[in-house]
Amino acid sequence: MEHLHDFARETNLTHDEWRYGIAVLEGCAAIETEDDHEFVLASDVLGLSSLVDMLHFSDEATSSSVLGPFHVSGAPPLAVGGDMKRTFGGPVLLAEGVIRDADGNPIHGAELDIWQTAPNGLYASQDEDQDTVSFHGLMTVGDDGRYAFNTVKPVEYTVPSDGPVGDILRACGRHPWCPSHLHYIVKAPGYRTLVTEIFPKDDPYLDEDTVFGVRDDLVMTYHEKLAADFPGGMTLSGKINAPFLSVKFDVILAKE
Ligand code: BEZ
Ligand code: FE
Repeated sequence: MEHLHDFARETNLTHDEWRYGIAVLEGCAAIETEDDHEFVLASDVLGLSSLVDMLHFSDEATSSSVLGPFHVSGAPPLAVGGDMKRTFGGPVLLAEGVIRDADGNPIHGAELDIWQTAPNGLYASQDEDQDTVSFHGLMTVGDDGRYAFNTVKPVEYTVPSDGPVGDILRACGRHPWCPSHLHYIVKAPGYRTLVTEIFPKDDPYLDEDTVFGVRDDLVMTYHEKLAADFPGGMTLSGKINAPFLSVKFDVILAKE
């Protein structure tokens, strides 16, 4: 209450502004459903979600980043080396790395929950043309801590802007774009669960993510490789006959 009162004094809050603020909250409540978390989205675009993350970072672990509203429980199992791309078009991206502790030891049995949009910029839950779990996968790593999967290179996309959060963005002269990213949740017994994202270094929105999710250690180079260099042991629907992209991203978990 003290902070709220200080805010009103500091801004000399008027009756009209007070009423407008209440209307924004009512607007969020009016469209809030189990699948549409307008309050969380408001917290995301105001940078509050990221600030809370940053207040509780572990120095020794990979940085955490925004969860967003599109994670689903019950993602289908994805084997190490598995195929999340399936028959979708677009540039092939091979993502791989090791899940390890701060001393460099691989974490046997760590679980990696992966999700991203389809090439049209929509998550499965936003798109009637996708099945409910496309571009979602749950991988358990072996003794070497290694994960690997094929997917389509993620694309930039916009957060929903048809509700009060869109009004806030427009009032601030801001756009609704996020840089392209892959989402990970990484869990292992005895370690702090990590919610994070990976971004490519050359994304045009890297410095202006509308939900403030980018951290330096989450920005990776996607290397272009020749089709002939596609490694064995990976599953891919169809034959690879064009250059593909490859990203290596190790995930470090902090002890609980
Ligand atoms: C996302 O990255 O999926 C996301 C994050 C915050 C708000 C909306 C979407
Ligand atoms: Fe996302």
